Amino acid sequence: MRSRSWRVLIVGFGALLILMGLYGIIAARRAQRIYAVTQSAYENHRHAQQALAELRSGIYLAGLCLRDYLLDPSNLRADRYREQFVEVRASTMQYANQLRRPTRPEDTLALERLEGELEAYFGLLAQVFEWTPQRKILLSSRFLREQVLPRRKSVLAMALEVRDLNRVHFARQREELARLAKTFAARGVYHKILTRQVRRAAPAEASPQLVLGEAAPERFTVRENGVQFELSFAEGYSVGLFLDQRDNRRRLLTGHVAAGFSLLPSSLQSPITDRRLQILNTFAYTCGFSVCAAKTGARTTSLDLSKKCLDWGKRNFAVNQLDPAAHDFIYGDVFDWLRRLARKQRLYDVILLDPPTFSQSKESGVFRADKDYGRLVMAALPLLRTGGVLFASTNAADWPPEEFLAAVTEAIHRANRKILQQHYVPQPPDFPVTRAEPAYLKTVWLRVE
Ligand SMILES: C[S@@+](CC[C@H](N)C(=O)[O-])C[C@H]1O[C@@H](n2cnc3c(N)ncnc32)[C@H](O)[C@@H]1O
Repeated sequence: MRSRSWRVLIVGFGALLILMGLYGIIAARRAQRIYAVTQSAYENHRHAQQALAELRSGIYLAGLCLRDYLLDPSNLRADRYREQFVEVRASTMQYANQLRRPTRPEDTLALERLEGELEAYFGLLAQVFEWTPQRKILLSSRFLREQVLPRRKSVLAMALEVRDLNRVHFARQREELARLAKTFAARGVYHKILTRQVRRAAPAEASPQLVLGEAAPERFTVRENGVQFELSFAEGYSVGLFLDQRDNRRRLLTGHVAAGFSLLPSSLQSPITDRRLQILNTFAYTCGFSVCAAKTGARTTSLDLSKKCLDWGKRNFAVNQLDPAAHDFIYGDVFDWLRRLARKQRLYDVILLDPPTFSQSKESGVFRADKDYGRLVMAALPLLRTGGVLFASTNAADWPPEEFLAAVTEAIHRANRKILQQHYVPQPPDFPVTRAEPAYLKTVWLRVE
């Protein structure tokens, strides 16, 4: 009787686990689908809008080249006007060609008609550049009125037709998105452009854009591995947490870097010690790494050039019931402060280095990850306890992993320190690598004698 109820319990529990697993897979698939539809809808729409705007301005610019040429009584500058016209014509035709990406069979006819209209318009304008000065005086105004204006009207009307087709297509994709979001119970959907170029855009342009449903509050919290983080979609490209560093945050949270590689130095592994692990988080941003380390009882020092980010970091401590006053937050330049802390003979068990690819400060000038990483490691090493752990990470996309690793390890050897343990972490799998966007993130954890 007893063994039967055990069997029922095991079968029931197993079925529950399978159901939970299935639900997880379905939810992940839906989220992926939402992402794919959002990405395709917004990228294509933005791309088409840009190409159409350039195309329309090319049409007007070509007309201006022609007008300037006709208004010039001599033929002295004719070659310059002709060259300008040829350039505008070529780039406008390129934009028309870009509208074919991605090809939608239902749009092919309209796009072919647009290209035909453009050829006819530019062809009409091109013949004028062969006119003699006398012909210009005699025919200009009639030609512009009777030939160029109607042709321009008709090519612009065709461009508007293509724009409307794009809008219809975009609306259809938004409807599909609304349907998917409903089944996923999403209250709102945002689109974040992940290409590198957008990071240089103005905050309003680089911020995630509301696509559907309710707007998120200006600040809200998310949970990762049981830790809360404040996010904002109103601050530009960076929303408060770099998701590609999730696994490294988990390493700080668990103290487990890799098999046989613990964050605790051997002197701290004994249960009788009451000393807290000391962590220095440089380029701390919103202190994500510090919060994870503090959760395990470590005392953290977060160092950043942005007061706003450090205040955000303090709020991240508070939402996790951690008292920011029990930790240090230093506002300033990393190189400057590494020097000052070394002078005070401060020592840390773990030092985190995760600089931006490029930075500039009043105190230490320009920092380029691929040129200056060795210098950064050298500046940090005097602060690292014997047997301490150095975390070095970079998102410099054009810097090969071997060269990054060589820069870090050579700096350690140059400082006459020995590497006792090493664990290299590549870009996580949920940041897939494509030909257009190759892997950028490289990280190494090192225990240094
Ligand atoms: C790539 S983020 C660091 C991300 C962070 N490690 C994380 O995973 O959350 C770059 C941060 O470095 C800071 N920063 C840039 N140059 C700096 C400098 N010279 N000294 C101190 N902080 C700097 C910026 O203010 C920004 O918050």
